[in-house]
Amino acid sequence: MALKPMPMIPEIHPCPGGPQGLFLPGDAVERLEALLPEYEGRIKLVYMDPPFMTGERFYMRVRVGAEEWRRGRGSLALETFRDLKDRGEYLDLMRRTLLLCRRLLSDAGMIFVHVDYRANAHVRLLMDEIFGEENLLNEIIWVYQSGGRSLRHFSRKHDTLLFYRKTDQYDFNIDAVKAPRAKPRTSHMRRHVDPDGRVYRSIRTNGRIYTYYDDDPIAPSDVWQDLNHLQQKDPERTGYDAQKPLALLDRIVKCASRPGDWVLDPFAGSATALEAAKRNGRNFIGIDSCPLTLNIARRRLEGADWRILPGEAPRGDAPRCEAEVRAGVGFYHVLLQRYDAQIPGLPENAAPLDAVDNWSVGYLRDGGYEVMAAFARGKRRPDLETELAVPAYSGQLAMCVGDVTGASWLYALDK
Ligand SMILES: C[S@@+](CC[C@H](N)C(=O)[O-])C[C@H]1O[C@@H](n2cnc3c(N)ncnc32)[C@H](O)[C@@H]1O
Repeated sequence: MALKPMPMIPEIHPCPGGPQGLFLPGDAVERLEALLPEYEGRIKLVYMDPPFMTGERFYMRVRVGAEEWRRGRGSLALETFRDLKDRGEYLDLMRRTLLLCRRLLSDAGMIFVHVDYRANAHVRLLMDEIFGEENLLNEIIWVYQSGGRSLRHFSRKHDTLLFYRKTDQYDFNIDAVKAPRAKPRTSHMRRHVDPDGRVYRSIRTNGRIYTYYDDDPIAPSDVWQDLNHLQQKDPERTGYDAQKPLALLDRIVKCASRPGDWVLDPFAGSATALEAAKRNGRNFIGIDSCPLTLNIARRRLEGADWRILPGEAPRGDAPRCEAEVRAGVGFYHVLLQRYDAQIPGLPENAAPLDAVDNWSVGYLRDGGYEVMAAFARGKRRPDLETELAVPAYSGQLAMCVGDVTGASWLYALDK
């Protein structure tokens, strides 16, 4: 049967006991303003990896259909975002975003802004002005080895994280990120083994003996060389161009927030910071203007108690969608049969349901669409599951299709 499209409403992914979360598709400044009434002074950590003022266009190669998921390469190149080139416009976006983030942070809160050599100096001065020079905690240098080597100048192999507190009551937890030394300290030190077999080194300075165990965890410095960038074939890769490694965000989340705190990323991209927050039991809020990020978030944020607020409606009419509902014992079985999206650039041999990236079935409740069963294609599940079962409750049954362009469409289902 052909389904009736509905306007998008909040998409609720219930997971009682899981970390809570919000994803807001749209413009960072607009969405941050809308968060103020409920979240002002409540956010513990802001991480942002904004555009770098490169003037470049960024694309994602989106995987269409099971075969492309199996091969791990997408054929449909879609623009994710256009970075700003004009310095005035860039600084205006950053100023407005940073001012709002400062209001959203609690007095114990901290902010990390991820920049490269192009934006570093400008953003640093802006942050000094907005947060106060005295609140700069670190300029962290994240060093990586990936990418090619330049012969025209030294290869650019680091990003900078500008780390500020909101006030001197900030709640920084270095113990949470201590790790054993990669290499033991050996120079000028004597090696010993204690009765338990642990290796330690000692040195005498000014009449005092200092000892260091090789396996003692140490606090990281402000130069991070131990966290690799994602490799081409990295299993963590989502296909999103600017994706950062989870290990980087894990360190940031652990040292600057505690379980149950709220973590905010206003330029969330592939939801790396949100996933790190979820894994560490923190609540999260993500914003991004690129619709493709929604499909990635649906994959990465499974296991959280989170919701997606409706963004701007996709352009054009909802694609014709057909599904059948069969009543079983205590369950409804929903069979997805057809989704006719007109997507320019789709491979000619694409099968009718190849344009479906993910879909879900649920009920309309309290002004939202509550997801009860969902499927998203992935590396381990490339074939579209076309049947989903949901418990038979009273109420309006509905389904949502997230297609390969990042558009999401909600349809009412007749039982
Ligand atoms: C460098 S990427 C973030 C990557 C992310 N850290 C990750 O690990 O995937 C910057 C993101 O900012 C988003 N963006 C750019 N301008 C924006 C705006 N005005 N409002 C919201 N998001 C924006 C882009 O769509 C892009 O996803």
